Amino acid sequence: MNNNRIYLSLAHTGGEEQKYIQEAFDTNWVVPLGPNVDAFEKLLAQYLTDKGNKQVVALSSGTAAIHLALLQLGVKPGDEVICQSFTFAASANPIKYVGATPVFVDSERDTWNMSPSLLLEAIHDRIRKTGKKPKAIIPVHLYGMPARIDEIMRIANEEGIPVLEDAAEALGSSYKGQKCGTFGEFACLSFNGNKMITTSGGGALVCSTPEQVKKTKFYATQARDNAPHYQHSEIGYNYRMSNICAGIGRGQMVVLDEHVARRREIHKIYREQLAGLPGISLLENPSSDFASNHWLTCVLIEPEIAGYTREDLRLAMEAANIETRPLWKPMHMQPVYADAPFYGDGTSESLFEKGLCLPSSPVLSSEDIDRVIYVVYSNSKP
Ligand SMILES: Cc1ncc(COP(=O)(O)O)c(C=O)c1O
Repeated sequence: MNNNRIYLSLAHTGGEEQKYIQEAFDTNWVVPLGPNVDAFEKLLAQYLTDKGNKQVVALSSGTAAIHLALLQLGVKPGDEVICQSFTFAASANPIKYVGATPVFVDSERDTWNMSPSLLLEAIHDRIRKTGKKPKAIIPVHLYGMPARIDEIMRIANEEGIPVLEDAAEALGSSYKGQKCGTFGEFACLSFNGNKMITTSGGGALVCSTPEQVKKTKFYATQARDNAPHYQHSEIGYNYRMSNICAGIGRGQMVVLDEHVARRREIHKIYREQLAGLPGISLLENPSSDFASNHWLTCVLIEPEIAGYTREDLRLAMEAANIETRPLWKPMHMQPVYADAPFYGDGTSESLFEKGLCLPSSPVLSSEDIDRVIYVVYSNSKP
């Protein structure tokens, strides 16, 4: 076996990307916006749904998408926004950008995503304590696993609170046949280097109305009023995706289905190969309603049964030149969010303690996967 570095999640290009970048140069569209941006947005909207009820605005990052959604949901200083605690900081940080307070909600065991019952408890308790409804709910489809989104949507609709889905990791995942990113009032996608597709760096906001599309573009291009000179009545941002990056995105759309299929195949190989090893389990679709893209294959280690900890396994992987990563450290455990309210039952804390992400790039060879599995076996009790 070779000893080359195996990475957690690498971008993979399909070959068409160069064509669209070249086209941008040939037509002198080496500027923000242009035909690649329009085409990439259309392709994304068509990919997400054939109902025509969602439109997509390409932006500089998924974080920017969350920020612009919160602005449009009218979140202001003094407001509260409910956010899944078990996530990457980018889900929550934009709540602070708009001066509001995040209220973190724990995960449920099956999907590792927002617990509907804790969500309900959090909403009612916040109303009791502050006299106000939270302004928005941010569930996350973490690692590509769909959240229990129909229950979350039912609660949100009954309580009259809009949902902003964080689908940054979930392009290609679906719940009951409907693509993640099409349930909420808004949804964010991310195309940074380690995601399902990449534009070298970028994101998108999935919108539900033409007015939202217009407003998103307005805020993302410095909030310019309709005047021949530069005039501004609101604070704007420089958040639009460039025509070059969107060219990469257009090329990546050609291989998106292939990427989803390959990541699912990698998850299946790990599942089959690791089945029966004591004290190790994978994050798996809880039922046929869930169709994760398996962006990253994640395992949980029960140290009492396995005889080793998650950290033991991570270090053994590192010694074999294999990159793995502990699961996201929940936001309520982060020093920067120490003061934020939290509604939980210990689920995400335990996931963080026991969980590890395994290499899952579409570019992994079967020899690479064998090397990862070999390290797990070497760690396990005979
Ligand atoms: C769950 C989650 N939300 C949001 C983001 C933010 O996306 P971006 O890096 O494009 O800003 C990411 C990825 O980085 C993510 O994993």
